[in-house]
Amino acid sequence: MTGVNQSQSVIPTVTQRVLLIIGGGIAAYKSLDLIRRLRERGATVRVVLTRAAQEFVTPLAAGALSNERVFTDLFDLDDEREIGHIRLARDTDLIIVAPATADLLAKMATGQANDLATAVLLATDKPVLAAPAMNPRMWSHPATRRNVRQLEADGIHFIGPNVGEMAERGEAGVGRMAEALEIAQAAAHLLGGPQSAPAGPLSGRHVVITSGPTHEPIDPVRYIANRSSGKQGHAIAAAAAAAGARVTLVSGPVTLADPPGVAVIKVETAAEMLAAVQTALPADIAIFAAAVADWRVTTSANQKIKKTKGSDVPTLTLAENPDILMSVAKRGPRRPALVIGFAAETEAVVPHAQKKRKEKSADWIVANDVSPASDTFGGDWNTVHLVTAEGVTSWPPQSKDDVARRLVEQAGAWLAAHQTEI
Ligand code: PMT
Repeated sequence: MTGVNQSQSVIPTVTQRVLLIIGGGIAAYKSLDLIRRLRERGATVRVVLTRAAQEFVTPLAAGALSNERVFTDLFDLDDEREIGHIRLARDTDLIIVAPATADLLAKMATGQANDLATAVLLATDKPVLAAPAMNPRMWSHPATRRNVRQLEADGIHFIGPNVGEMAERGEAGVGRMAEALEIAQAAAHLLGGPQSAPAGPLSGRHVVITSGPTHEPIDPVRYIANRSSGKQGHAIAAAAAAAGARVTLVSGPVTLADPPGVAVIKVETAAEMLAAVQTALPADIAIFAAAVADWRVTTSANQKIKKTKGSDVPTLTLAENPDILMSVAKRGPRRPALVIGFAAETEAVVPHAQKKRKEKSADWIVANDVSPASDTFGGDWNTVHLVTAEGVTSWPPQSKDDVARRLVEQAGAWLAAHQTEI
């Protein structure tokens, strides 16, 4: 049920040359769609297929979709005479590696060049965008973590992987390749295409936002939830995108449309939300507007719990969920420059928010009253207090869209004043 959507109402334009290296993984089929997505945005796409990739997609299919010759072999003399791997590496504006398998990432991190794909990657002086795809255990293995850190330090850009079901039956977690539209948007952003994002105070910045509730399963048909509609979080995502930022919105289950120009990662549980946020980092700003369930059922039932006449009502044993805001706000190299949390309170709104700001190490807390009379949950209006280390500013009642715009404006001004770069 987890997935990534890219709103289509703004189509970023890629008017340049893209070299797409397709690695050998089941996600390779999505890279065929990526060729189409890049071309419909105006890009010229050349394709390199690794030997393993050819087990999943054929040069014929890649050639038909790209309308270009497909390259497969480092020692193809014709290729070397006509174009050569050095020219292939340089005669492009961006290289995309999708799927970037664990094996390809390891080779890239150690500078190997024993086939056409890796030789091109070693020879290039152009930006490289990697879209990893692998089993969650491979993704979390210390060797892969080490390789990714090295590649990030080398300036390689990453998109995903996302949370989701794997090709292997019953396996789920972080490791699913980003969707074609999401990769195309990241490509447009890297290429600085004229319509990749509107110019604005957050141009060149990455903002990660959580929104909506989380659903914590009790059994396959029941769950623990709360009343968040996602209106406030989605409004912030829309405002950040309108201010020129690249925006990743990690959303719990909501019925709202995806905000335009925003990469939306859809999750259900707090654990999935945490994984998606960690994957989306690094970011300049992180804003936590989601109403994350504080507890989950320790072990959710595999089958619907039956109501049997005469038997006791079931007892639910709860476990505490990870605190996503707190885990991101703690000191570390991947901490966003500005971490903003929300506080949903039904009494002593400001004092409780001040306490939360300190306990969770957030820079700012946006405090709002969520008592039933406030109509904050699900409503279109909000009355908030901005709590910072310097003090508290109470904003007048206004629409959630206006709260979002004002918050984004202040966050942009803060970043500009502090001249931070990720
Ligand atoms: O979605 P709407 O209907 O538009 O309503 C908006 C809203 C009321 C949900 C929103 O404005 C809001 O207040 N969001 C935060 C809700 C909340 O869970 O607050 P909290 O006080 O319980 O948590 C404090 C902060 O920690 C929040 O930033 C929350 O996202 C974060 N948190 C909480 C628990 C957890 N396990 N992980 C977290 O990251």
